[in-house]
Amino acid sequence: MKSIVITSGKGGVGKTTVTACLGRALSSLGARVVLMDADFGLNNLDVVLGLESRVVYDVADVIDNRCRVRQALVEAERNLYLLPSAHGYLGDKVTSQNLKLILSNLSVTFDYALVDCPAGIEAGFRRAVAACDCAMVVTTPHLSALRDANKVIALLSSYKIPASLIVNRVRGDLLADGKIPSVAEISDILKTEVYGVIPETDGVYNFTSMPKKPYECLARRIRYGMKEIVDPAAEYKGVRGFFKRRARRG
Ligand SMILES: Nc1ncnc2c1ncn2[C@@H]1O[C@H](COP(=O)(O)OP(=O)(O)OP(=O)(O)O)[C@@H](O)[C@H]1O
Ligand SMILES: [Mg+2]
Repeated sequence: MKSIVITSGKGGVGKTTVTACLGRALSSLGARVVLMDADFGLNNLDVVLGLESRVVYDVADVIDNRCRVRQALVEAERNLYLLPSAHGYLGDKVTSQNLKLILSNLSVTFDYALVDCPAGIEAGFRRAVAACDCAMVVTTPHLSALRDANKVIALLSSYKIPASLIVNRVRGDLLADGKIPSVAEISDILKTEVYGVIPETDGVYNFTSMPKKPYECLARRIRYGMKEIVDPAAEYKGVRGFFKRRARRG
């Protein structure tokens, strides 16, 4: 099993959304996927997946031996399971050793574990990162997010955890106008390979309404090493694209 921590420097850039959508895309390729919510206290992966009413046990129950890890898993879809985070549990009781042990138990059953990391670079981040094989750093094309992503990438390299990037919330019209850095520029600035690009999507109310294609590309990259990335600016290029851009600007 490969364990991938989904992390970022800046909060609110889309870690939880990416964890849910990427998990779904990997499972639709036939991989067995478990999503671990390591955002203790502020957990919302269960909510994003629409599973909160089906949560019985959580990570805290597993750590305190009130249940076995399999009993705590909630099935989201075929081949896609959630290990819920602890509600109201004090995060400092959980160590990266605890998480490692849980992941090693899960490794018999699953091909991938995606670990949804809390925002910031404090204890919760370190705990989740130290338990995983590799990291995907989610950023948006905005300067503040890029700066924080840069710090996180440096930290990950001090942990000797290989990192790649997911650029989320990319507006195709701004990209076509050259108002935000291109994927190649972001990769250059952060000296890290971009594995996935996810366009800004209007009207996202739950993860099932996110467009599938960008996540399918990312999942194929992870599972089969296929280098294919969606270009959010494609629909804004050419003559028709020019008018679309103007319309978007209002
Ligand atoms: N590509 C996208 N297009 C539009 N909205 C998005 C996109 N990705 C995420 N969002 C929205 O951004 C908000 C924050 O996303 P999310 O909760 O996944 O971020 P997070 O990094 O997990 O936050 P936190 O650091 O608080 O855990 C949510 O309302 C989500 O629906
Ligand atoms: Mg989150």
